[in-house]
Amino acid sequence: MGYNDVYANWQKDPEAFWMEAAEAIDWDRKPTKALDDSNAPLYEWFSDGMVNTCWNAVDRHVENGRGEQTAIIYDSPITHTKREISFVELRNRVATLAGALRKKGIEKGDRVIIYMPMVPEALEAMLACARLGAVHSVVFGGFAAHELAVRIDDAKPKAIIAASCGLEPGRVVHYKPLLDGAIDQATHKPDFCVIFQREQEVAELTPGRDVNWHGFQYGVEPAECVPVEGNHPAYILYTSGTTGQPKGVIRATGGHLVALNWTMKNVYNVDPGDVFWAASDVGWVVGHSYICYGPLIHGNTTIVFEGKPVGTPDPGTFWRVISEHKVKSFFTAPTAFRAVKREDPKGEYLKKYDISCLKTIYLAGERADPDTINWAHDLTGLPIVDHWWQTETGFAIAANPMGIEPLPIKVGSPSVAMPGYDVQILDEAGNQMKPGELGAIAIKLPLPPGTLPGLWNAEERFKKSYLNTFPGYYETGDAGMIDEDGYLYIMARTDDVINVAGHRLSTGAMEEVLASHPDVAECAVIGVSDPLKGQLPVGFMCLTKGVNRPHEDIVQESVSLVRDQIGPVAAFKLAVIVDRLPKTRSGKILRATMVKLADGEEFKVPATIDDPAILDEIKDALQTIGYAK
Ligand code: COA
Ligand code: AMP
Repeated sequence: MGYNDVYANWQKDPEAFWMEAAEAIDWDRKPTKALDDSNAPLYEWFSDGMVNTCWNAVDRHVENGRGEQTAIIYDSPITHTKREISFVELRNRVATLAGALRKKGIEKGDRVIIYMPMVPEALEAMLACARLGAVHSVVFGGFAAHELAVRIDDAKPKAIIAASCGLEPGRVVHYKPLLDGAIDQATHKPDFCVIFQREQEVAELTPGRDVNWHGFQYGVEPAECVPVEGNHPAYILYTSGTTGQPKGVIRATGGHLVALNWTMKNVYNVDPGDVFWAASDVGWVVGHSYICYGPLIHGNTTIVFEGKPVGTPDPGTFWRVISEHKVKSFFTAPTAFRAVKREDPKGEYLKKYDISCLKTIYLAGERADPDTINWAHDLTGLPIVDHWWQTETGFAIAANPMGIEPLPIKVGSPSVAMPGYDVQILDEAGNQMKPGELGAIAIKLPLPPGTLPGLWNAEERFKKSYLNTFPGYYETGDAGMIDEDGYLYIMARTDDVINVAGHRLSTGAMEEVLASHPDVAECAVIGVSDPLKGQLPVGFMCLTKGVNRPHEDIVQESVSLVRDQIGPVAAFKLAVIVDRLPKTRSGKILRATMVKLADGEEFKVPATIDDPAILDEIKDALQTIGYAK
């Protein structure tokens, strides 16, 4: 069956399509139906099934004769370590960790925050929670204490599992002070913390609160898998919205298992036993879906890579890992290839390695620019598959389904809608637009299994953020178009979310931090184009009347403030002081116009602008930092 037939089959009978996909999952109690639409526009999938994620990702492979197969390859050029963990070892390690967590009181439904770098123990912690039916929330290691505190107060975890440190090139990230700072700041306090001590740094435990990862597992009974309802939350993953309060995306257990398992063959074209590598981080959705759960559920070997595309030690790292571990499908962000391309444009490092094992390269996380796609294709001769998705959806909305049928690649397009997604382009009034016309990208409800059923403790915000603008549709927050052949093009965000090196960040959150500076009366943060990271944040600050301190000091303090409050990952290093911000007569800051000005794009001065002369002042300010040329 080709793509058109598979998509048509889903359209004709979604219920049958997903019930058939659900056959590939081991259920403790089979669901009698796929969709529950009794509470529309809120939908649930496989609600009356009983199932356990860890069983499906780990134990069942041991039962089915894959026990000796490598489940996880840990490759850390940063610590010069390589290690393999088989499915049977993984089962034993996870069962013991789960047993220790259970002994400390963790039960089904309890939240557990995981704050760990790219080590296999991060996946083990996720799986141990899944084994007990506990709901994990992984927080990216590049976020600062304040961001962790916000998540602690929202998720209210009973426990936090953290490592003693993370490792960035040339720098040890001390997690323990960040963890302590976050717990101090948060109103909610966890019952206990588990600290995984790394060789590179042994953290001092806080008496009465912290236990040692190894010590607390000593002599405990391994835990069995606890079956949970199909609609039970598997995890919460916070993502950036328009404000400083991140959105807690919920992933429900049954749909997550069914959808991810379906994508491994149909999108990524791997069979059980093949090696799959997503070079991302467990702190992001790509890490959840395709470092941890997807490959393991499907019986693939997954790679936990602790390193960077360049500098650990050189731009040949990706090719080395692919060659050494026989990777069949590789997934990364365009920015990572841009970094490699910048240091090794002719692919001299690639010549050192035999990558004939590799069949396809997948890109996502941000717009894949044609230069990068063409470079990667010319160098490797492989299909470069751009695919588009979001934390909210958990798997590809649009892709080239290589395991069904490789479709012609159109550079600049993430190809076509996957089964489960009826993608439409709408105008402001919600009318469908014609092929080639630019509009808001929306998906007809219900979204497929595996996508978010809601936001943690925030039903109204869920509706407001995604469902209210276009009744009957999910609003993606992206704008774009569909061509005559049904290929999608993703052009821009419709909100204040920016994408920096494949990391989704909120300019609103950065504005809240800048506004907290005592000398700042008003501010705006925009995302300007950057040849490496895609976008970079730039802050504009108007000072409080009477402040006459040196501007460089205030800029420096604002940069430090964002680094301390949000984290280094925000990459906030550019800020300028201006007298006024360009606004409409009703007082709305004209951020989109400022972006165009910075990027040197043509734009029309908005008719509603209060004072067009301010744009010249903004242009001058941007020129001082190398933009608006
Ligand atoms: N823990 C702590 N700090 C982290 C971190 C982590 N897990 N990840 C990044 N940081 C820090 C970096 O050290 C850097 O700090 P600095 O300002 O002191 O230099 C800052 O956050 C920005 O990091 P990053 O955006 O990674 O920039 P970089 O200049 O170090 O590297 C790339 C540039 C392109 C090589 C890198 O961004 C990259 O590999 N991107 C791929 C992104 C990706 O896989 N995204 C997942 C979506 S699929
Ligand atoms: P995240 O939730 O962090 O995965 O970020 C999702 C957002 O990243 C999307 O809404 C898009 O704005 C952007 N994005 C992800 N993949 C692509 C892609 N292939 N092409 C263009 N934009 C993308």
